[in-house]
Amino acid sequence: MNNPHQQASEQANEPLRLVFIGPPGSGKGTQAPILKEHYGLAHISTGDLLRLEVSANTDLGREARKYMTEGALVPDQLIIQMIAGVVGGQGFILDGFPRTVNQARKLDEMLGERGLRAVIEFKIEDRLLISRILGRLVHPGSGRSYHVEFHPPRVPMTDDVTGEPLVKRSDDNEEALMNRLAAYHEVTTPVLDYYRQQGILHTVDASDKPEAVWSQIKAALNQ
Ligand code: AP5
Repeated sequence: MNNPHQQASEQANEPLRLVFIGPPGSGKGTQAPILKEHYGLAHISTGDLLRLEVSANTDLGREARKYMTEGALVPDQLIIQMIAGVVGGQGFILDGFPRTVNQARKLDEMLGERGLRAVIEFKIEDRLLISRILGRLVHPGSGRSYHVEFHPPRVPMTDDVTGEPLVKRSDDNEEALMNRLAAYHEVTTPVLDYYRQQGILHTVDASDKPEAVWSQIKAALNQ
């Protein structure tokens, strides 16, 4: 049997496999690129993957669009098929998956003994999310997000890195947001309990400033 030092060093050598869970607008897509850069991880956002399918007008995109516009969850079997092809042996941040306990079980099956290193919960009150979502601007090519007030681009409506135009997401309106929040509370919060029972859930205060949220995540990963 390994001693604790051996176990710790083996864990340190393992690629980081992380999951981000939080309501819409809690900052998952803001923090993921920071971790991607810092730890050299793949950023796998199911929302971004689905939006690519929608813009390419694939069968999956046409099917998913009906749900996404209303702020409803896309059916599990479509998401699980999509994600199975992209979760590999390298380190990653899964942003927006799993969102149901069924998806979490399937992810465990996909990863087998490798498992997840940590799951980060972005905890924040619903009332703070409306202004975040309604003021959000995104760069469709990279998924980078900005905010007209909290994180404005250097040139209005223009991505800082590529100079390409920014857009508003079609589901960033009040009605779809209410449905997305309802889906989060009803279907996704049980996933937190699933990971709490595995002892890998860490909660950060997502109402803090972005730099402070990043410090909390780093501290959680160093535990
Ligand atoms: P998805 O794209 O995953 O959307 P979401 O979960 O609703 O999350 P968001 O992207 O809205 O929020 P975020 O936490 O990334 O916030 P951000 O960092 O941009 O999913 C979209 C749809 O796809 C779903 O509704 C569903 O239909 C479908 N789907 C996806 N995955 C699925 C799955 N697994 N199963 C079934 N269906 C699935 O921040 C928001 C704004 O706030 C930004 O403007 C940002 O600049 C600002 N901000 C961020 N952090 C801070 C801060 N600390 N302080 C102040 N402002 C901040």
